[in-house]
Amino acid sequence: MEQFALDAIERITTRPREHSTSITVDPLTPLLGAEVSGLDLSKELTPEQTDDVRRAFLTHHVLVFRDQTLTDEEHKRFAGLFGPLHPVALPAEGSDPYVLEISADKESRAVAGNGWHADGTADTEPSLGSMLHITRIPEAGSGGDTLFANMHLAYDMLSPAMKKFLEGLTAVHDGALPWMGQTPPAEYDIPKNEHPVVVRHPETGRKLLFVNAPYTSHIAQLSRVESDAVLQMLYAHIARTPLLHCRVSWQPGTLVFWDNRCVQHHAIWDYYPHSRYGRRVAIDGTRPKA
Ligand code: SIN
Repeated sequence: MEQFALDAIERITTRPREHSTSITVDPLTPLLGAEVSGLDLSKELTPEQTDDVRRAFLTHHVLVFRDQTLTDEEHKRFAGLFGPLHPVALPAEGSDPYVLEISADKESRAVAGNGWHADGTADTEPSLGSMLHITRIPEAGSGGDTLFANMHLAYDMLSPAMKKFLEGLTAVHDGALPWMGQTPPAEYDIPKNEHPVVVRHPETGRKLLFVNAPYTSHIAQLSRVESDAVLQMLYAHIARTPLLHCRVSWQPGTLVFWDNRCVQHHAIWDYYPHSRYGRRVAIDGTRPKA
């Protein structure tokens, strides 16, 4: 591996286990994700617990909480500690406008998130993050894991020449792309926005790669051929560099809180015809900035 990539890894490798005063944080890998224990999310968190979760979130980007029994109200209260709730883009009739059902069974012909992506990046202000609470796992007892990828490290591991090339470029994110071959509902106001290819995390200021296959149509300053080649190279880098990834195996009652600003995720649909069910609440984000 090149020295610049090794330097990038060394800069963010985390220590094995962290005890803050109110929670225990066990990294899933040295580079992404952590399991948090010591909290019952159905109870109101103290300010100290909230600060410790926030710190762990900004360090590890994907937090896993096990054995949580939650009502929608408790789920939303926990999410609300990190910002106003982000409404579901196309809520089902009669459903809670802030709770998205994630559901698959033998009737499914596709499942949400079965490919590397960040959520809703065609929005002017994509979500800060999501909290998915899975209550039903596939009947076989395994399958339905979710992969996450660290977009800070994906950027940091690029060569200095590639970083320089990407600096200042912007990409068009088009909400129509995920609907290819289908007709979006008439009431859907399809979002389309241009965001920098390299953005800074709004809380930490760290740079990250902000393009993803389902939403990014092209890089505005390049020809189509050039744009396709550069985007395919970046997507291959994200998908084929396992050290960027962590993998969460769900149990009933697992809640995962991921930072949608600096992490992509991929829900693995390896359990057909079995079922999987959960509920997701998202938090408002801000406009991505270079
Ligand atoms: C998603 O939010 O894209 C779905 C994630 C999952 O089902 O694990």
